[in-house]
Amino acid sequence: MKIVSIVAARPNFMKIAPFCRAVERFNAIAPDSKKVEHILVHTGQHYDDRMSRAFFEELNIPTADINLGIGSGSHAEQVGNTMIAFEKVVRELKPDWVVTIGDVNATCACSITAKKEHVKLAHIEAGLRSGDLDMPEEINRLVTDRLSDLLLVPDRISIANLKREGRADKDIVFAGNIMIDTLEEQRDKAAAFGIPAVIEANRIGGGCKASEFVDDGFAVMTLHRPSNVDDPAILSELVDFAIGEGSAHCPVIWTLHPRTQKQLETFGLWDKVTHAPRLALLNPIGYHELLRLNMGARLMMTDSGGLQEECCVMGTPCLVMRWNTERPVTLRENGGVSTLVGNDVAMIKKMYSEYINLPRHESRPELWDGHTAERMLKAIVEYDR
Ligand code: UD1
Repeated sequence: MKIVSIVAARPNFMKIAPFCRAVERFNAIAPDSKKVEHILVHTGQHYDDRMSRAFFEELNIPTADINLGIGSGSHAEQVGNTMIAFEKVVRELKPDWVVTIGDVNATCACSITAKKEHVKLAHIEAGLRSGDLDMPEEINRLVTDRLSDLLLVPDRISIANLKREGRADKDIVFAGNIMIDTLEEQRDKAAAFGIPAVIEANRIGGGCKASEFVDDGFAVMTLHRPSNVDDPAILSELVDFAIGEGSAHCPVIWTLHPRTQKQLETFGLWDKVTHAPRLALLNPIGYHELLRLNMGARLMMTDSGGLQEECCVMGTPCLVMRWNTERPVTLRENGGVSTLVGNDVAMIKKMYSEYINLPRHESRPELWDGHTAERMLKAIVEYDR
């Protein structure tokens, strides 16, 4: 069996690592006739070393067999260029399966291409829904799931979403959260990192001394969604919160996505953040480094999807700077640690004052057990519909 799997952007890398290893383990004991030929395609959507290569090295992901070199661009450019390039790959390789992950532009582009070439399609992280079509990722999820032959879902809420859309039980496999496989595999390695060392190695600004960041005594912030960083008024208010009340109780580590750094510079906010006394401003950091910060943080403030899930398992109280989430299983009302605060600073301040004093509370949704990749691979190799 020949499987082509697709990665494109940072959040895909921690999800493909366990899948690659599951294939290796499967092949180690499978007879020759059953072995899986796994071809990894990187579309090149994320290309900076810190956004891509670093994760391949840290997580021991084999170098991609093919890199499509798509890079940045508008959504139509990214999706269109990926489809054109990936169509050639599919025609040449003629895989039995294409496996797409998550909700980035490449997920959608490669899913459409695979089905137009009559190749079976499996989607890792199927069934997530924010209900918000202003999010490009929601469009990518809807298109990908509609086309997928095999829907590999992380939680029961996602199963219900897919059934509401008319998908049959036979197409859905409840496999768990593949990113948690990576978290469990890498947790001990991450624990060995020192927090001041992470800051020293990655700092690009902020006046707070690295030694002032101690376990349980700092908050972490990450922002990259267009809805938070592309509007100067919104980004400016979020900056004022971060350097004001948001860092009054304890200092804040803010790890910057390239888009966010670019917008801070464009909107004339760069000087303000780089000189803020209670902030450490970092470049995009590595997987272990961020996991280490998550372990020690008193509070996470983020618009990332993956961090909501990692906080849930690590127990870190989490303010989600969005109005909706496709990952409701991580919300406090469902047993998790997160709450939605959008980008309304009054709401953020209100919830901040409550969450900064919450104790850690680990919670592990069903099947987020570190063995998701092997269940996913099994579902693909045993598929007989
Ligand atoms: C993408 C995903 C988003 C995911 C995020 C994680 C889509 C629609 N969005 O958003 O779901 O949460 O990745 O990071 O696919 N840039 C660089 N270097 C890079 C990559 C990007 O400088 O290696 C800059 C460029 O200025 C680029 C901007 O970041 O224009 C945005 O990158 P893009 O890939 O379009 O989307 P993300 O915001 O990263």
